[in-house]
Amino acid sequence: MKGVIIVGGLGTRLRPMTRVTNKHLLPVGRFPMVYYPLHSLVDAGIRDIMIVTGGNKPGDFLELLHDGSEFGLEHLYYAYQAAPRGIADALRIAEHFVDRDRCVLILGDNILNGSIRPYVDQFREQEQGMRILLKEVPDPERFGVPQFDEAGHIQQIIEKPQRPPSPYAVIGVYMMDEQVWDILPTLPLSERNQYEITDVQNVYLSRGQLRHDVLECDWSDAGTPETLWRSADLIRKTGFIPPISLDE
Ligand code: G1P
Repeated sequence: MKGVIIVGGLGTRLRPMTRVTNKHLLPVGRFPMVYYPLHSLVDAGIRDIMIVTGGNKPGDFLELLHDGSEFGLEHLYYAYQAAPRGIADALRIAEHFVDRDRCVLILGDNILNGSIRPYVDQFREQEQGMRILLKEVPDPERFGVPQFDEAGHIQQIIEKPQRPPSPYAVIGVYMMDEQVWDILPTLPLSERNQYEITDVQNVYLSRGQLRHDVLECDWSDAGTPETLWRSADLIRKTGFIPPISLDE
């Protein structure tokens, strides 16, 4: 199983904080934001991890994280996304690295105060396909949202629906098998000119291969001043700290 963390983009909604630095390097509690998704992957037992960066200060990730030894890793891999054209586009850059293994993709601004290990373990048992995580939120219109039928099966995932069909957000942790590499080149550009990870989910769904869990721990994205603050608060309230050995 490989891990991919996406930390590109210009973080425009966080300007001026992101005018000179990358959004994913901003502090969330005790650590730079990227520490949390990196810890989530390591904690799930994933040892081969690629950081896909771009936007502001991409080189700073190398300077900050080095070879990942602070997280107990032997190596970290880095790749560069030249133009911000969506999550599914950034994933494409990691194709050679993942090398038809399974992968867990995590967005660099997704902060959890608990482990994703149980869900990744479920995916390890899953015969094939994709696995996503859902969380009930007060503002689903900001996210990918599942629509359920009466039997409780997902019918489709809708990206940022004006009228959300359920109170759930699809969080930015996506587990996929090797079919994703054949799906990515077939995706259309969306209205916001991006290759959407939601479209990948809908292809797996049409193949009857999309599974989901409802996340038990707390979760937040951190792309706006409000949610950055909320993420820090979530970490502070629960006292969650990635258990890494800090070089002083
Ligand atoms: C992205 C995805 C969306 C998902 C969200 C989770 O949104 O497109 O489906 O729910 O991440 O953080 P974006 O960050 O592009 O607004």
